[in-house]
Amino acid sequence: GKRQRLLVVANRLPVSAKRTGENSWSLEMSPGGLVSGLLGVATEFETKWVGWPGVDVYDVVEEKALSESLAEIKCIPVFFGEVFDQYYNGYCNGILWPILHHLGLPQEDHNDTNKTFQTQYDAYKKANRKFRDVIIENYEEGDLVWIHDYHLMFLPQYLKEYNKNIKVGWFLHSPFPSSEVFKTLPSRSELLRSLLTADLLGFHTYDFASHFVSTCTRILGVEGTPEGIVDHGKVTRVAVFPIGIDPNRFIKACELPEVRQQMTELKERFAGKKVILGVDRLDMIKGIPQKFLGFEKFLEENMDWRDKVVLVQIAVPTRNSVPEYRKVKDQVHGLVGRINGRFGSVSSLPIHHLDCSVDFNFLCALYAIADVMLVTSLRDGMNLVSYEFIACQEAKKGVLVLSEFAGAAQSLGAGAILVNPWDVTEVSSAIKEALNMPAEEREKRHRVNFQYVKTHSAKKWGNDFMSELHDTFSESDMKI
Ligand code: UDP
Ligand code: G6P
Repeated sequence: GKRQRLLVVANRLPVSAKRTGENSWSLEMSPGGLVSGLLGVATEFETKWVGWPGVDVYDVVEEKALSESLAEIKCIPVFFGEVFDQYYNGYCNGILWPILHHLGLPQEDHNDTNKTFQTQYDAYKKANRKFRDVIIENYEEGDLVWIHDYHLMFLPQYLKEYNKNIKVGWFLHSPFPSSEVFKTLPSRSELLRSLLTADLLGFHTYDFASHFVSTCTRILGVEGTPEGIVDHGKVTRVAVFPIGIDPNRFIKACELPEVRQQMTELKERFAGKKVILGVDRLDMIKGIPQKFLGFEKFLEENMDWRDKVVLVQIAVPTRNSVPEYRKVKDQVHGLVGRINGRFGSVSSLPIHHLDCSVDFNFLCALYAIADVMLVTSLRDGMNLVSYEFIACQEAKKGVLVLSEFAGAAQSLGAGAILVNPWDVTEVSSAIKEALNMPAEEREKRHRVNFQYVKTHSAKKWGNDFMSELHDTFSESDMKI
């Protein structure tokens, strides 16, 4: 029969366009966990993607040309024009992102705060309406619409206002904060009301889902039940769907001759040393300064390790137009300078810090040769980097040191060494424990986590969400 049609809607398309000349673009895979998760979703559905192509386009001729090349890979672009800056850099990443990660609203420009907030909030709504318009243009009856992430919290309401029969699911890739934190957001009730118009709301962990439910009951006075939220007889289903990766993509990559060659070169480069690896977007939430402080303390206290260990940190550039991101970058650079200055020598440096992204094969080579993976997020939706490391460690069986504040701590906690990234002493001793862990113990821990990563794939995540969305709707259908 005909395959179920699905519209996957996210601010970021799986590919980003880079201008290569007049009216010509190259398409590259976009960074971040949302995109890698979605790429792993089964192609069981007739899927189209709706989102931002990652580039400013200046006129309709260009829009048309880019739309045509994206259409070949089933992507439909949304062009924002001038609202983009206020929407993306302003409301999404300057206001919502910090609130969702318990970092609070930015404190600066107190006099202008209200004005700024209002402009950014209006831009956010406008951008959500642009998404609505593009979806309506492409919608066919019976399509499922799966909306992703905090950029698009008004979209469920806008779509339902247009046509209440559109099946709408929404998934949050970030944490959802405690109600005490969410309450501080000036637009809190409108955002929650919009989300509750959806048929299904999904979160990575039980903690995030229950924060969401109690936030709704406290702020809106609605009723929370095990099925979800009940408001005047209407049920909005709330459920937990922990995302995963496509493990085979990583396992296979580690067997490619090119990747093996890169592994050999890296091993030669770091001969006689243990390698600790960090891979994060350079974001405040990743706790990169806390990671470096923990490593500094480790070097301070363990003189015998000083010339026997390196920390390789891949800091993927991200959201450069948001002031807070530039600040954390400066802070990180300051720490690298200090630690390398204190503990480096003419021939070797303890931290190799790179402000760049790396290609997929090289990333796999790094994951595969690392002895320890160090993830110190202050708060993180899931953290797929920790899954990817485990998928690449079948030969080496290295140790994952993982922040208890990452969603992944719920799933990989059994095999990892969990740390509180704010506790410098704990991070330092976890590094020591990881470096000294006997092979037998490493093997045991790796087994547990590898098994989990293999069985809880992105494909399973996508299918679970889609079948729940499907069922949710049929139930409410019958009530009418
Ligand atoms: N990644 C990337 N470019 C790089 C290094 C890593 O796109 O140079 C990918 C990485 O493989 C992972 C994703 O970015 O799939 C990061 O996802 P995660 O969930 O760890 O964090 P997020 O960036 O979504 O906050
Ligand atoms: C996180 C967010 C995603 C986002 C990604 C990369 O994973 O949950 O929605 O796509 O970071 O950030 P960016 O702002 O570059 O899309």
